[in-house]
Amino acid sequence: MRIFFVLEQAPHAFSLGTLPFLCYFLYAILVKTITIALPSDSEFYVPLGVLLATFLFYRYILHPALLSPLSRIPKAHWSCSISPVWILYARYNGRENRTLHRAHQEHGPVVRVGPSELSVNSLDGVKTIYQGGFDKHEWYSVFENYGVPNVFSASSAKHHSVRKRMVSHVYSKSYIHSSAALAAQASAVLNGRLISLLDASTTAAQAPHGIDVHSLFSAAATDLITAYCFGAARASDFVRNKAYRRHWQALYAARKAGSFFEQELPRLSAAARRCSLGLLPGGLTPAWVGAANREIEDWCRAMSDAALEDLRSGRRVDAADDPVVVRALVAGLEKEERESGAASPVYATAIRRRQLTVASETIDHVLAGQETTGVALTYLAYHLSRSPDLQRHLRAELLSLRPSMRLRNSDRDGNDSSDGMAMLDPKQLDALPILHAVITETIRRYTPAGGPEPRVAPSPSCRIGPHEVPGGTRVSASVYNLHRDERVYPDPERWDHSRFLPSGGDGDGDADERLKSVNRHFWGFSSGGRMCLGSNFAMHEMKLIVGAIYSNYTSHVVDDAGIEPTDAYTGHPASNSLYLRFEKVMTDG
Ligand code: HEM
Repeated sequence: MRIFFVLEQAPHAFSLGTLPFLCYFLYAILVKTITIALPSDSEFYVPLGVLLATFLFYRYILHPALLSPLSRIPKAHWSCSISPVWILYARYNGRENRTLHRAHQEHGPVVRVGPSELSVNSLDGVKTIYQGGFDKHEWYSVFENYGVPNVFSASSAKHHSVRKRMVSHVYSKSYIHSSAALAAQASAVLNGRLISLLDASTTAAQAPHGIDVHSLFSAAATDLITAYCFGAARASDFVRNKAYRRHWQALYAARKAGSFFEQELPRLSAAARRCSLGLLPGGLTPAWVGAANREIEDWCRAMSDAALEDLRSGRRVDAADDPVVVRALVAGLEKEERESGAASPVYATAIRRRQLTVASETIDHVLAGQETTGVALTYLAYHLSRSPDLQRHLRAELLSLRPSMRLRNSDRDGNDSSDGMAMLDPKQLDALPILHAVITETIRRYTPAGGPEPRVAPSPSCRIGPHEVPGGTRVSASVYNLHRDERVYPDPERWDHSRFLPSGGDGDGDADERLKSVNRHFWGFSSGGRMCLGSNFAMHEMKLIVGAIYSNYTSHVVDDAGIEPTDAYTGHPASNSLYLRFEKVMTDG
């Protein structure tokens, strides 16, 4: 801990001028240490020690600090050219996004944060890295499930594109908007579960306590994505089954909290596993994290295997029970085998491990989809609850839909539960400007997947802005930082949905230009070949859920303690909760 303190507190005094003296000093210490450690009476060992010290000095100090092209890039901290400790410490302590934000404010759009690591914060840099198809860093390998890769974890572009092709069509906007299966699944989750629960929460006995919408929205998102992957009959029912939902959400929190060493220091963790003689089977990852992972994997495998079994049996099922994603994966794997056979880049890892590939892929969609969507909906409901005026405007917009999402046969005296709501044309819902603006601004401000997205610079080198970057360098941009560009989003910490509202066609050219710019800089789902696979699904389900709720209820904050977001790759409210109270809306006006 002490060394971290010294690193943190040391002034940024080690500029380029003082660095050679520091290097010489470190070299002298290294030579002395190695020659003392070797037998001193041998004429052979002393020159060997000096040679070894010189090599280590060149490799780990002189080259990275003074000779590498990276040495010409501004450093976030004086130690960054020779040590990754500074950035690892910020990451470990949940301060990485804020720390990098400050570093970019002080040092510009490209900043060195480790001996072989850069942080980038410009649209041009994003274009080079993410539209340029740089491979993902090995950091993503922890997202493999059952030891089998998936779209998210695959590092090489070649392997990744084969996998993504198998499934991306069922996540396209046109497929999602026209899917009878998804419409039926959404109706089952919204009408059958979510609305009933909100209805029950409005009673005099329950209303004063409110309900924890963070847990509830994550549950609704889990139910929707598992229904789309595996069919409604095999999917989760987290909205209603609160006890299992809480247990599962605790498992997920354990999985997230315990991955630091495996992800950031995989070789150290592997060495700990090997040297511990079986005492540390998970390396530096605690045993309880491994147990949580296994339970989540088993839970998903049961749904995935059941869906596969149903497809094999050829039984006809209702639209709601169609396992859309599993069906697409099976068809994609069969096609790949037919067309490329053993020559396919994914022959060994996917075609020959079909059952586990389907499970590994779908568990990733479930995990990627539930937390991000739940967090976005939580912060959106939070801001709406603090602004009755905005709720009114949003409701007026929602009720302009024909048919609207108003509950049918609802008893306007508020005593009766309803028949449910119509599932309207998704294109109409998608075109509502206020609904779109409030969701987009929430993702801009709260960045549910906001942390750095590490990629690897291609060999032998590339240019990022004016800088030459050697191949193999870890380079990342983050949604958190890009969405805090004050030139595009003035007062970026303020939640202000009007940033994303169109001018209303009144010919205000400046407003149109401004809107184009805020949309161009919006990076909430990343971009390029590794852009979010589920962005259309996420936008559609969020619009459905917000539409269903605010067509029929008003919401009010009961308890927002701990609402501030954590600083992480995927952040969430620090308290993991937000309690809101809902009231039925009695009139259509
Ligand atoms: C509000 C909701 C969501 C947000 C803000 C979000 C954001 C993102 C971001 C920023 C990335 C890039 C991450 C990186 O490269 O490090 C990503 C990737 C991904 N997301 Fe999402 N996501 C959301 C919902 C979903 C859903 C519902 C799914 C379900 C299919 C999903 C599946 C994926 C997958 C599979 C990738 C990896 C894509 C690839 O590597 O080609 N996401 N998401």
